[in-house]
Amino acid sequence: MAEGPLEIEDLPGVGPSTADKLREAGYLSVESIATASPAELSEITEISEATAKKIIKAAREIADVGGFKTGKDIFEARKDIRKLSFRVPELDTLLGGGMETQAITEMYGEFGSGKSQIVHQMAVNVQLPEEQGGLNGSAIYIDTENTFRPERIEQMVNGLGLDDAPDPQEFLNNIHIARAHTSDHQMLLIDNSRELANELKTSGKPVKLFIIDSLTAHFRAEYAGRGTLAARQQKLNRHMHELFKLIDEHNAVGLVTNQVMSNPAVFFGDPTKPIGGNIVGHTATFRLYLRKSKGGKRIARLVDSPNLPEGEAPFMVEEAGLKSC
Ligand SMILES: Nc1ncnc2c1ncn2[C@@H]1O[C@H](COP(=O)(O)OP(=O)(O)OP(=O)(O)O)[C@@H](O)[C@H]1O
Ligand SMILES: [Mg+2]
Repeated sequence: MAEGPLEIEDLPGVGPSTADKLREAGYLSVESIATASPAELSEITEISEATAKKIIKAAREIADVGGFKTGKDIFEARKDIRKLSFRVPELDTLLGGGMETQAITEMYGEFGSGKSQIVHQMAVNVQLPEEQGGLNGSAIYIDTENTFRPERIEQMVNGLGLDDAPDPQEFLNNIHIARAHTSDHQMLLIDNSRELANELKTSGKPVKLFIIDSLTAHFRAEYAGRGTLAARQQKLNRHMHELFKLIDEHNAVGLVTNQVMSNPAVFFGDPTKPIGGNIVGHTATFRLYLRKSKGGKRIARLVDSPNLPEGEAPFMVEEAGLKSC
């Protein structure tokens, strides 16, 4: 791997105008170009496929992608996996002990189903020491809908019920929030997150949680018409890929949210569908479907997971945060 972050302009054959087109299409890094197909690239940039091939080849050499790892390498990396606790035993059990590092957990559900509440709670919990279910780390929070509420963090910290009353201000200090105004901006913020996370890596509170709330809202708003679906999914896919690399590099938890709307016109099958569609579904490692139930109760359902059974867990959202029913 070359030293320092490489710009896509550093690739032979990529001038400023091609670089702009690539960025517009969501190719923000050398790695993203390394994994593109020549046809896709040539269509976007109006360069010949032969040139596209050359650019991709150069990107692959620089980005060092496509190499094989042995089973042992993967076994070693997986030994570092940690679990971030919800501090709600039922939810922890559902996820086999909590949210895994080196994995993306996607939460989807209707408005008010508790997605942002869980996100806030996890931004608190991640800061706790491991004995208390945390990862002794800090959080990066990409907020696309302006839903981050410091007051909520304060309430949740006070609601932890720990013997030594923790200081909410300290917790707020370890949550790094960036507002994303468009989908492009959101994708750029992943790059900025990488810089910040690298800076904090050797601090007392390395970044152990990367949040995108909501992953899909901007994409959905900007790519509304027919015929834009493929482009949207491609960009979302790339975005998830970048997030994956980040959480791998930092042995951190990835947590994204996705809104769904119930569709009363559907009488059979599942009336709710996650907005990112299958692309998000197949990229996320764990998927939790959240729904409201009677008496303020909420239910989380584990939808598909590589190594855990499907199941459900009830929980409450209270002023003090997530609690058992
Ligand atoms: N201080 C609080 N005390 C108790 N419950 C709260 C408090 N704050 C929020 N809630 C509950 O959380 C709900 C909002 O949940 P949340 O913001 O997580 O929804 P969401 O799934 O993120 O929705 P959206 O798709 O609109 O972003 C409120 O309707 C309320 O029931
Ligand atoms: Mg929300």
